[in-house]
Order: sequence, then C-alpha cells, then structure tokens
Amino acid sequence: MKKNLVVIGYGGMGGWHVEHALQSDVVNLLGIWDIKEERRTLAESRGIYAYHSLDEVLGDSRVDLCTVAIPNDQHMEVVEACLRGGKNVICEKPVALNMEQLDHMIATANETGKLFTVHQNRRWDVDFLAMKQILNSGEIGELINIESRIHGSRGIPSDWRAQKPYGGGMVFDWGVHTIDQILQLLPDNKVVSLNCKLDNITTTEVDDGFKLNMYFDNGVSALVEVGTYNFIPMPRFYMRCKKGTAMIRDWREETQVVKCKAWHENDVLPVKTAAGLTKTMAPRDSVTTDTYTVARPASDVHDFYRNVCKAIDGEEPQLITHAQLKRSMAVIMACFESDAKGQTISVCI
Ligand SMILES: NC(=O)c1ccc[n+]([C@@H]2O[C@H](COP(=O)([O-])OP(=O)(O)OC[C@H]3O[C@@H](n4cnc5c(N)ncnc54)[C@H](O)[C@@H]3O)[C@@H](O)[C@H]2O)c1
Repeated sequence: MKKNLVVIGYGGMGGWHVEHALQSDVVNLLGIWDIKEERRTLAESRGIYAYHSLDEVLGDSRVDLCTVAIPNDQHMEVVEACLRGGKNVICEKPVALNMEQLDHMIATANETGKLFTVHQNRRWDVDFLAMKQILNSGEIGELINIESRIHGSRGIPSDWRAQKPYGGGMVFDWGVHTIDQILQLLPDNKVVSLNCKLDNITTTEVDDGFKLNMYFDNGVSALVEVGTYNFIPMPRFYMRCKKGTAMIRDWREETQVVKCKAWHENDVLPVKTAAGLTKTMAPRDSVTTDTYTVARPASDVHDFYRNVCKAIDGEEPQLITHAQLKRSMAVIMACFESDAKGQTISVCI
C-alpha cells in the first residue's frame, strides 16, 4: 500500500518532491506545509492541500512520511518534531550543520523507532553511476585516482545559500553530494588524510567553491572540486585505473574510455611540440589501446522513495544509512578544519 506523504517546505526542492510524489507508484501526496502563506496559496491553486501548521501535520494520523525540504539550519528542529510526532522522515541534504546535530537526530530516530534518512538523490545521477559501473566491472582495473568536478560560473545563489546562519556555502550545498559519491565508490577504505581549500571569490560570508583532496588507506586519492566561478568547466569525472582511463566531460554525455591492452610499444613516433619533440607524451595508437564509449546507465530516481517505503515496512534496509551520513559529515567537518588551519590534516574516516 502507498505511504501517505506530506512535504514540509514548498520551495524549489519541496516543489520537486511534490512533482515526483504526484507521479510516484509508492507514495500518495496528502499535502504540503510551508511557513509562507504565498507558498500555501500557490499549492492550493495547484489543487494540493496546504496544512495550516506543523502541528496539523503531526496530528494527522494518516501521515506515514514527512519530507523536510527547508533551509539547512532548521533541519534538526523540524526533523525531530516529525520523528517525535510518530512520522517517518526524509530530510533534504545537507542533513545537518555539524556532527552534534546529526548525532542528535539519529538518537531521536533510534528512540522513536521511526525511519530517518536523507535525500542523497545524486547517487542516482548517471555520470556517477557510469563511474561506479566501470570501476566495479574491473574492465580498466583498480582505481589509482579519481577527480570529480562540478563547475558553474554564476557564483553562489543569492538566497539563504549565501548566508552562513542558514548553513549556506558550496561545501554544504554541492560538497555533500560529491563527497558522498566518492565515499560510495570506496566504502571499505578509510580516508587517512585530506586537504581542503575554500574559495571566496564572489562572497566572503560563505565558501562559493572548494578544492578537496582525500587520501585513502589503499593509496587511492580523490579530488573533489566545486566551483561557481569557472567560465570554462573541466570534465565532470576523470578516473585513472591500472589498465586505462575513463572520463565524462559533461553529465549529459557518455563516458569515454581508453583501455590499455598492451603496455609495450615497438615504434613510437615522436610528436612535435611548439619547441621540440616528445615520445613520452605522444598519443597511443589502436595497437596498444582500445578506445570506446560507455552508454549512460539506466537510472530511476523514484527508486529512492521505493527504498524508503520498503524500509519502513522492514522489507529492505534503507539505502542511505546513518553510518554513511556520519562519514560524509566527518569529511565535511574535516574540510572546514583543514581550510582554517591551512594544512593537510590526518583523519580516519
Ligand atoms: N537534493 C537536492 O538535489 C537538492 C536541491 C536543492 C535544494 N536541496 C535542499 O532542499 C532544502 C530546501 O532548499 P530549497 O532550494 O527548496 O529552498 P527554498 O528557499 O526554495 O525553499 C524553502 C521553503 O521552505 C519554507 N520554510 C522555511 N522554514 C520552514 C519551516 N520551518 N517550516 C515549513 N516551511 C519552511 C520556505 O518558506 C520556503 O518556501 C535545503 O536543505 C537544500 O539544501 C536539495
């Protein structure tokens, strides 16, 4: 049976949840609650019931599940109210502003016995899934290093995301996705050190981008870079493995792969550079490499809600676990520490 859902916060992302709920095979949208009257009126104009208060939501015994899509600084208070009101809860990312808040939320979920998870929807992004598929297939061997970049050129949005008290900044906004993705690729390895440098190009109040290097206990390294002042974006993903290289220029494109099928070459033709010759940097040919593209993997973001609903019924474990949320949060906190100290820090995450 479908779970009855209320979306709390009917802004940009709340609107996304509402649209998806209306097409869902697992949830039934009962309505929304937003503190702003104009948002409630807008919902009603679209035929969606607008609750008059959070208490009305919590008092409605039909409600199985609340999705909390409000500014980051308020997540803990509203999530905990919903859990204590007997509701299962999906919280938008970033789940919290620090580890203490997250621990508090997890403790409340455990105490109430209600499901509590976070909408890490970018685990369903096809660019990330393509990297995961190629890595896990072993077709180009073990990972050496991976680079994940999200580049835009419009600065940080000028709403609450640009203000510190609301939990603004790009580490919290996009970092929480890109860090989570990398940790998903290396679930069994510890991050042993990291270095993070925040950008303050268009604003000084919050970071408007960052560059993070993570070093894992198996020698693998990962670069995560989010930029909002990049008028020429760099490739979305670049992955070097022991038997080849994979790259996705843009999330709309297929993955390019060059697989090394023979290490030794008989004759390498030197290439001319502007002021000399090089054999070392001459491109490989088809005798020693295979070049191909990998189609975008199938993905359905509705699988997030499908999993949540099954997890509520105890039919499968929740995909986005408390331990994973704590791991991402530990990296995020270490990013701020590394930037403040201006140095690489040792961690065990
Ligand atoms: N997962 C994703 O891809 C993704 C994308 C965008 C935003 N988000 C997250 O979604 C959340 C909301 O972001 P947004 O872009 O929708 O913001 P927004 O400003 O567009 O909308 C927030 C809405 O919440 C309402 N609100 C504020 N406090 C409230 C409260 N206490 N109770 C009820 N309503 C309240 C506001 O009136 C507003 O309508 C943030 O945590 C953000 O990081 C996630």
